[in-house]
Amino acid sequence: MSSPATAAPDSAALRVVEEARGSGVYALKDVALVRGAGARVQDAEGRWYLDCAAGHGVASLGHCPPRVVAAVQAQAATLLTCAGSYPNDKRAALLERLLAFAGGGFERAFLTNSGTESVEAALKFARHATGRPGIVAATRAFHGRTLGALSATFTRAYREPFAPLVPRVEHARFGDLASFAELVGDETACVIVEAVQGEGGVHVAPPEFLHGLRALCDARGALLVVDEVQTGFGRTGRAFAYEHAGVAPDLVALGKALAGGVPMGAVLMGPRVRALPVGAHGSTFGGNPLACAAALATLDTLEQDGLVERARELGAWLLERLRALESPLVREVRGLGLMVGVDLRRRVAPLLRALQERGVLALPAGPTVLRLLPPLVISRAELEQVLAALAAGLAELEGCADEEAH
Ligand SMILES: Cc1ncc(COP(=O)(O)O)c(C=O)c1O
Repeated sequence: MSSPATAAPDSAALRVVEEARGSGVYALKDVALVRGAGARVQDAEGRWYLDCAAGHGVASLGHCPPRVVAAVQAQAATLLTCAGSYPNDKRAALLERLLAFAGGGFERAFLTNSGTESVEAALKFARHATGRPGIVAATRAFHGRTLGALSATFTRAYREPFAPLVPRVEHARFGDLASFAELVGDETACVIVEAVQGEGGVHVAPPEFLHGLRALCDARGALLVVDEVQTGFGRTGRAFAYEHAGVAPDLVALGKALAGGVPMGAVLMGPRVRALPVGAHGSTFGGNPLACAAALATLDTLEQDGLVERARELGAWLLERLRALESPLVREVRGLGLMVGVDLRRRVAPLLRALQERGVLALPAGPTVLRLLPPLVISRAELEQVLAALAAGLAELEGCADEEAH
């Protein structure tokens, strides 16, 4: 006898469970996402959305990219786990492939499971390579939530409840070389910076600022760490955002889009970073064959489908279209490639809700900035829909008071 069909839980029911049983750290939305395909995600009620949040920048290839799905399925049936102390075919292939993808300036890579772990490892490696304790990060920086990465993150509200954090971490003003020159000295292990600040409001580092940081680090014997967790793998229209400026970092922290949606991160290590002694660092899951297979398929897809160039072209077009939006609510449009911020003269939350009602998911970047991180596979027609939803959402809000701006 067949059992009676039970209705799948709806978004509200799923949210109730997560609110009651989750840790409480997420501001839960009122749509539960249960499926994805390309640039779209579907909620528990069956409604589809254009996904310009892309899992906070993870789904650069779109949802369920076919080559990644096939690679994961095949690897799941072959070998799911393999500790770092045993060489493995997929890991060896990925190490070679990732370093080649990065253009030859790096000699080694350490594989992790998330962005914050990559930052954590990069900071450790910089201290190890230089024998110095100091870390200089930037105002508005976001580098993650574990204690080391959190120490380099700027936002007080994230840091203060967890003090005391890692000592000898200071913040200089983003974009202001003189401010960095005051803090970087002969006890500085590294400067860490995002080439485009994401969470901090989508601020593009001027090329001369990155060049200046490189020269400053060279002059003072410090290493330059670029956090490409959000910007990496084509998001900004180059493989990595520092390439726009043509600077060569010593360490690069990676995560998010690296494995097409499977959790993975990495640290690229340049010639100034020595190989580490056995036991200096490690990770049980880091470099597991499942994630490595997914990352190999991701790099294949990025290259074979020309997604980096696509992000460059579509991004330039999108920025132009956004700058042409005539809304008194828009203060500034910023971005690089398909990493775009629309800075408003008021709080962004109502606009995010208005977009969701029109079938578009997007992100905030601070209180007033709308952040769009669409999958690099999104079509121009889909972006036209996003633009139409945005124009309609802005028009709707123009008539309303900024009820959230206190
Ligand atoms: C620039 C940057 N660094 C680090 C992180 C932390 O990555 P994860 O959330 O995977 O730990 C993020 C996450 O948003 C990020 O944007």
